Amino acid sequence: MDEFEDESRIISTRLTPDDRFEGALRPERLEDFVGQERHKENLRVFIEAARRRGEGLDHCLFHGPPGLGKTTLAHILARELGCEIRVTSGPVLEKPADLAGLLTNLNDRDILFVDEVHRLGKVVEEYLYPAMEDFRLDILLDRGTAARSVQLSLPRFTLVGATTRAGLLSSPLMARFGIVVHLEHYQTHELAAILARSATLLDIDLAPEAAAELAGRCRGTPRIANRLLRRLRDFAQVKGTGQVTLEIARYGLERLEVDEAGLDKLDRRFLRALCEVYQGGPVGLGTLAVALGEEEDTLEEVLEPFLVKEGFVQRTQRGRVALSRAWSHLGLSPRPAPGESASLPF
Ligand SMILES: Nc1ncnc2c1ncn2[C@@H]1O[C@H](COP(=O)(O)OP(=O)(O)O)[C@@H](O)[C@H]1O
Ligand SMILES: [Mg+2]
Repeated sequence: MDEFEDESRIISTRLTPDDRFEGALRPERLEDFVGQERHKENLRVFIEAARRRGEGLDHCLFHGPPGLGKTTLAHILARELGCEIRVTSGPVLEKPADLAGLLTNLNDRDILFVDEVHRLGKVVEEYLYPAMEDFRLDILLDRGTAARSVQLSLPRFTLVGATTRAGLLSSPLMARFGIVVHLEHYQTHELAAILARSATLLDIDLAPEAAAELAGRCRGTPRIANRLLRRLRDFAQVKGTGQVTLEIARYGLERLEVDEAGLDKLDRRFLRALCEVYQGGPVGLGTLAVALGEEEDTLEEVLEPFLVKEGFVQRTQRGRVALSRAWSHLGLSPRPAPGESASLPF
């Protein structure tokens, strides 16, 4: 998929060009990271314990939907531990040599951050096992009868992996992470706090009622909250007095086609397809992806976690099923009788 997704999808949780400005909003210390209290408390303990023992942190895995703070947390860890962080990603590490190059250049206790760690190639992944476990790389020299392996000892680094798809991680890799953190969607009051912080940093006059409104309509995702905030600032400047008032927030969200539940056009198309074309399911993800002209991955990683969490959709063995909230949100009565119009209504 393109690095920059279709920009018309304001609610997208993937990176768009706009997100180049995201860095400015990224909290740098654990205390500025809003929400995820239990995880934060635990991380504080693990960091402190590692520091007292003079050791590196155990390998960490952050998983959860895009835009919830995985990359941010990796950088916070480095800052809290006072170490360097090198950033790479699964698909970039094509050959074992790419990995060896990175690992041998680290210092003791440094962090190697591997984003999209579920996309590591199999061969590279196998080199990673002894590196993570015993801080050594087994390098194979020559082939055939002359083949021999040499061991390279590595600095005692910390691998921090991030993934939107923990289910795709192999079990040997999963087992090598001593700390596993599953980030959940944020609650409205946490998003309101993130928005207030962002507004201050970006010098945006954001009325508290507008922050509350926006917090309830950003799919539980800080990245979306921040992105919508920047767009509402535009509406406030051009259509209002400069302040993001409740009225401007509602107007702007309406213009951006974000509804009261925080769903955008694609969410609604997904629900419509499920309810109107497939009578509420169960229907396979692949079928839905074709009907919508979207990638299965996008539906599974970006759309569904929120729709499931909010009780619109259920994932079952036999496929996706619309729950009553989906029907009522679309203003439909549940499950029309078989044989009723199944033509594409959108
Ligand atoms: N807990 C949080 N508190 C404050 N801001 C956050 C938090 N989590 C995420 N953000 C904001 O959302 C943006 C996206 O977070 P990021 O770490 O890039 O998400 P991920 O790596 O999970 O896709 C960050 O730039 C940051 O500004
Ligand atoms: Mg990230």
